[in-house]
Amino acid sequence: MREQKINMQGITKVYATDEMETHALRGIDLAIYAGDFVSICGPSGCGKSTLLSLLGLLDMPSGGSYQIEGKEVSGLSLSEAAYIRNEKIGFIFQSFNLIDELTVFDNVALPLRYRRQTVPKAELEARVMACLKTVDMTHRAGHRPNQLSGGQQQRIAIARALVGSPALLLVDEPTGNLDSRNGDAVMDMLCELNNNGTTLCMVTHDPRYADMASRKLHLLDGRILDADGTPLQQTSRPEPTIPPLLQVAP
Ligand SMILES: Nc1ncnc2c1ncn2[C@@H]1O[C@H](COP(=O)(O)OP(=O)(O)OP(=O)(O)O)[C@@H](O)[C@H]1O
Ligand SMILES: [Mg+2]
Repeated sequence: MREQKINMQGITKVYATDEMETHALRGIDLAIYAGDFVSICGPSGCGKSTLLSLLGLLDMPSGGSYQIEGKEVSGLSLSEAAYIRNEKIGFIFQSFNLIDELTVFDNVALPLRYRRQTVPKAELEARVMACLKTVDMTHRAGHRPNQLSGGQQQRIAIARALVGSPALLLVDEPTGNLDSRNGDAVMDMLCELNNNGTTLCMVTHDPRYADMASRKLHLLDGRILDADGTPLQQTSRPEPTIPPLLQVAP
């Protein structure tokens, strides 16, 4: 049986401001197994980035249970969450998020340098160079990110996401800032990583790229839809039904 990487049960997220509450996620059940490639799509505001930030422990849910490799992580303190995130999660963002003051090598090495346990220098160098080789960028190890094309920068960001051998790679609109040729090259690279066993969860607006995933999830209004387009889950609080006598005739 394939190892379960992620298990979310009844996950909700409510953003509360002085004026109003926004129910961004309304009960998400989601299991991701080793080697899965899951794509998430849906209209603007449906909760995609919220879901990704909860998956990546950048934020905590309002309710429900979330386990990574069998360990309950909902309700962790911020520093514990940061520790688990650094060990278990790799991120690839639309805007690359590389640091221009650092070389390509040092950008990729960053997650290892933030480890609680120091990674020996020789091992660090070997892992960084192996990841740069995976994305075909070893010849640019000494460059700065602003000396590279957009497609090359995204490949460096992929190498940085891989260097810690994460249990799960989270990808948010990876092609959003790329032209179609570079976008296709980045997607080919992600597909190849998945073929070699990396577990991926990707948000995208592009139906062509969403179709490359082995499992496609559609989000609407904070809920996952099933194949027919109806919500899979019941709302945690059902909408009140209006008694027939009170309904206004059209
Ligand atoms: N920090 C926040 N405070 C209050 N409301 C928020 C916050 N972040 C998101 N929301 C609300 O939660 C809902 C879901 O937002 P989210 O960013 O997850 O949508 P999305 O699916 O990623 O949209 P897009 O495709 O436009 O990126 C929206 O109604 C949004 O306004
Ligand atoms: Mg978003």
